[in-house]
Amino acid sequence: MGKLRAAITGINAWVPEYRLTNHELSRMVDTSDEWIMQRVGIKERRILKGDGLGSSDLGEQAVRGLLSKTGTSPDEIDLVICATITPDMFFPATANIISDKVGIKNAFSFDLAAACSGFLFALQTGATYIESGRYKKVIVVGADKMSSITDYSDRTTCPLFGDAAGAVLLEPTTEETGIMDYIFRSDGAGRKFLHIKAGGSIRPATHETVDAKEHFIYQEGQSVFKFAVVNMADIAAEIMERNNLRAEDIAWLVPHQANLRIIDATGRRMGLPPEKVMINIQNYGNTTAATIPLCLWEYESKLKKGDVLILAAFGGGFTWGSVYVKWAYDPK
Ligand code: UT7
Repeated sequence: MGKLRAAITGINAWVPEYRLTNHELSRMVDTSDEWIMQRVGIKERRILKGDGLGSSDLGEQAVRGLLSKTGTSPDEIDLVICATITPDMFFPATANIISDKVGIKNAFSFDLAAACSGFLFALQTGATYIESGRYKKVIVVGADKMSSITDYSDRTTCPLFGDAAGAVLLEPTTEETGIMDYIFRSDGAGRKFLHIKAGGSIRPATHETVDAKEHFIYQEGQSVFKFAVVNMADIAAEIMERNNLRAEDIAWLVPHQANLRIIDATGRRMGLPPEKVMINIQNYGNTTAATIPLCLWEYESKLKKGDVLILAAFGGGFTWGSVYVKWAYDPK
């Protein structure tokens, strides 16, 4: 019998209906479709409108659809991990709220915060529970309502982000498929370039913090870009080397969608032709923990059993990583 691994046996994603186009943004701040397309590659992003709706509502839709698509009863789920940096509230965990909304009652659940690398870190965490042999069905969901922390009067950040959720089901396999390897890194020194200034324990919310717009994303874009473009490409190349993978062995690069130029640099570093790189940033922007499952979901019908995928991300923290996956099923 082969080694016990965690295989992705189902994928689903959900995006809200409202499309915030570059055209609409150019009426809100001093920007243009041309600038955003040239520098970032985003055409539109989805926004969750409506009072009282949060990341759990995005996650609920993704998980509900995943359960129905895979014919899984909520009672069968052992564990739910939600990667998010926009939790519904400080506590309880958004994973708990999603579980309650979809009727998952025999599981434990928790959140994991690693910004744009959150889905990859959560995926491997879920996989480790499966590999332990104690857990049979784990849901990993990436859900971020980025519009809740975006300042729509700041042209340097507001074109970048969108709202979405994506979820995968992990199950054990002894076949040569599933999550094969991963490399992760964090560097807290990067926090100065990308963070939210107030609302945490270091600077709780006050009238002053609200007036100063300190509850929104603060990003020094150029600095983050320099770290992202090098580290995401390096860590994707590193996992290839460690597993003796050549460019021709790889079916798909599944990159975090923050900037088309970072994605292109990663693909080039790996020696991959553009047609092997999953890209949907133009339609959704940077949805933080949701970008990678959103890509997998859109490309699912093209994936075949045994396909070699390299998942790669870079984000706030800094955090970055790559995961080597052998896809576990043919298109249904
Ligand atoms: O996923 C989490 C990790 N985050 C990332 O990976 C993001 C990494 N960073 C980036 O993707 C890029 O740095 C940005 C897309 C955020 C910005 O692109 P850039 O090419 O680094 O632009 P810049 O910040 O160097 O700005 C260039 C110019 C500036 O004008 P001046 O000083 O040259 O006159 C900006 O003021 O572009 C200006 N600018 C804009 N112009 C029109 C900045 N934002 C805009 C805008 N529309 N929205």
